[in-house]
Amino acid sequence: MRLQGKLAVVTAAASGMGRAGVERFVREGAKVAAIDLDARALEALVAEIGPDKVCPIVADLSTPQGARDSIDQAALILGGIDILWAHAGMPGPASVENLDMAAYDKAIALNVTSAALGAGQAAPHMRARGGGAIVFTASISGLVGSMMSPIYSAAKWGVVGLGKSLALALAGDGIRVNVVCPGLADTPMKQGFTGRSGDPAEAAANEAKIVSAVPMGRLVQPGEVADAVLWLVSEEASFVTGVALPVDGGFTAR
Ligand SMILES: NC(=O)c1ccc[n+]([C@@H]2O[C@H](COP(=O)([O-])OP(=O)(O)OC[C@H]3O[C@@H](n4cnc5c(N)ncnc54)[C@H](O)[C@@H]3O)[C@@H](O)[C@H]2O)c1
Repeated sequence: MRLQGKLAVVTAAASGMGRAGVERFVREGAKVAAIDLDARALEALVAEIGPDKVCPIVADLSTPQGARDSIDQAALILGGIDILWAHAGMPGPASVENLDMAAYDKAIALNVTSAALGAGQAAPHMRARGGGAIVFTASISGLVGSMMSPIYSAAKWGVVGLGKSLALALAGDGIRVNVVCPGLADTPMKQGFTGRSGDPAEAAANEAKIVSAVPMGRLVQPGEVADAVLWLVSEEASFVTGVALPVDGGFTAR
């Protein structure tokens, strides 16, 4: 088992890629604190995986208090932190024209601020245990521009910069920091990128347009991203830090 005895925290853990990460971390021997806004989905996750292996923490990570307190609570429940997958994020406004400032602030708060605060709260616990591994979730939109999601792209470029900077700052403490950059993923959030107008035909057309630009010709599955994250936090990636790893079927290779 690749994470035997490790204490791990996953945010946005109740669905999609985060949930697939919790399943893999537990399978590989970690004890996991699963943080999410959705109490019922967390309950279902715990029922499926087992309360001895995963501890649910309900928190709104778009607020500084939620982002800080939930990591503190995780450290208390687990007895420390070795691994943090700060996965929370959201699409945000589709245009900078008539910009909805509340929606803008929330997108920055959930995508960037929650990652910074999570790492800031977790790092001392990792240092106390002799090292650790942090993974942030950005996106292909953190590596190239996004026609449909400019604020999201700005936020995810910020997440990539945060990851690379913290990799430099924390290397001396034995804490590796990497960023995973998924392509359009087959999860509930997909609709937030492709179907903002609520028109299913438009969502399907936007999805087809994106998929046609993916050399491997399909969406990424949640488990494929979680597998990449599992590798990044495992000892197999012991000399890998400061990387922004695309899991995108070749989308950003052009
Ligand atoms: N789905 C995609 O196409 C895609 C592509 C690239 C990157 N991403 C990134 O992946 C991450 C999550 O995506 P997913 O596809 O796994 O999503 P998902 O829709 O399957 O799950 C999102 C989870 O986040 C939780 N959540 C929402 N708001 C929250 C808040 N304020 N506080 C705490 N939890 C909250 C939800 O309850 C849900 O469980 C985000 O960072 C997103 O930007 C998604």
